[in-house]
Amino acid sequence: MTSTVILGTQWGDEGKGKIVDYYAAKADVVARYHCGNNAGHTIIVNGEKTVLHLIPSGVLHEHSQCVLGNGMVIDPFVLTEELDLIKKRGLLKNPSRLKISDCAHIIMPYHKEIDALREEARGANKIGTTKRGIGPCYEDKICRRGIRIGELHYTEPLKKHLQETYNYHQTHCKKIYNHDLPSFNKIYDDLMALTDNILPFIDNTTQVLTKARQENKRILFEGAQGVFLDIDHGTYPFVTSSNTITGSILTGLGLGPKVIDHVHGICKAYLTRVGAGPFPTELDDAVGQHMRDQGHEYGSTTGRPRRCGYLDLVALKQAITVCGITGLVITKLDVLSGLPEIKVATKYKINDLETTQFPTFVPELEKVKPQYETLPGWKEDIRGITNKKNLPQTCIDYLQFIEDYAGIPVVMATTGPGREENVEMA
Ligand code: GDP
Ligand code: IMO
Ligand code: MG
Repeated sequence: MTSTVILGTQWGDEGKGKIVDYYAAKADVVARYHCGNNAGHTIIVNGEKTVLHLIPSGVLHEHSQCVLGNGMVIDPFVLTEELDLIKKRGLLKNPSRLKISDCAHIIMPYHKEIDALREEARGANKIGTTKRGIGPCYEDKICRRGIRIGELHYTEPLKKHLQETYNYHQTHCKKIYNHDLPSFNKIYDDLMALTDNILPFIDNTTQVLTKARQENKRILFEGAQGVFLDIDHGTYPFVTSSNTITGSILTGLGLGPKVIDHVHGICKAYLTRVGAGPFPTELDDAVGQHMRDQGHEYGSTTGRPRRCGYLDLVALKQAITVCGITGLVITKLDVLSGLPEIKVATKYKINDLETTQFPTFVPELEKVKPQYETLPGWKEDIRGITNKKNLPQTCIDYLQFIEDYAGIPVVMATTGPGREENVEMA
């Protein structure tokens, strides 16, 4: 029995959804443990594209048990839409395949409004959030006024609790932004209209997962975002509002540490970021444009163009450390085809001093001058290659360079967005 974590080592959008879907063929359970529909995970099977924001990427496999953990924040409107989409595709015929933790918090319409108002007020300092209400919902959780999805079972106490939380936000929105929220009755009635769709899925997911472990089932833990969007270990304040590192699995699902056997870090062969914040290896040139065009680097959730740059091994090494990563999956290798040479950052210079330490604070990060190694590229189109023997030698050398620097094995590389477009390296 092995249980594996799939998480992003960069600023998100590394291709986690595709890898979870691929591994899910051999797993029994796929569990998400943090954040919400700020995530956009793309899966392409037989040319058909599915973008999932909340439901785990194992859902396309009819055998897999899908779990949304207590660490998540769930927008019930988005969940309902996603359930409709999945059901229209003939999936989830057995509703017991999906379990949602009763302790997960609900994103309400006022959270989205507050997210947008805050971003507007920050002006040039905006974070570039997805405006999905993620931050304000986690704030309510920490301030102990949030609404948990299991409260949908208790209509009368829920109404009272929601009224108090609503009053708090209406007062603040009026005072600070001179903004009125929609009426309480509208918010309450809209939520009540969805409860019948959601109640059948609500459960104690710690028990579901513990039972799965006792039955020797294999669990995949599906991370969202990436290490450098972690609230503690990322490029704060340009981060999301939850922990994204391996540690968040234990709190986000209510499990002990022995539940994790392997941690696979998903790492693009280059680097992207959507939203604001430092990005030492960012490119504003033809190479960056090549990455954006060939990699279709536009956000799966917001459609925003993603910022593109060279692979940063200083950052990758930091991600490996904070997450205890045991193996790497290098994705989107095909996107680099045609570049005569490929640079990789192996050191930073800050104030003329060389370092291999990823700085913690933004003013330091802004001073970073990446120091590059230049490797030869490859002309061949490698799209869809599945056997290592068919990869050009320079491509294999690129993967070897990453492995040597990282000090852990590259277990797989991907050569296209389709489910089967992978090269197993081990
Ligand atoms: P996630 O958030 O980490 O799941 O990643 P996204 O789905 O937001 O973004 C990854 C994008 O890259 C998606 O459009 C995938 O279909 C695509 N993709 C994944 N792997 C590959 C690959 O090996 N090659 C190419 N060209 N595209 C890929
Ligand atoms: P997946 O799971 C890329 C970024 C936003 C913004 C910051 C804060 O698809 O990799 P938030 O809405 O979370 O408060 O925004 O985090 N962000 C992501 N960037 N991929 C994601 O998810 C992201 N989720 C949040 O762009 O910079
Ligand atoms: Mg994404």
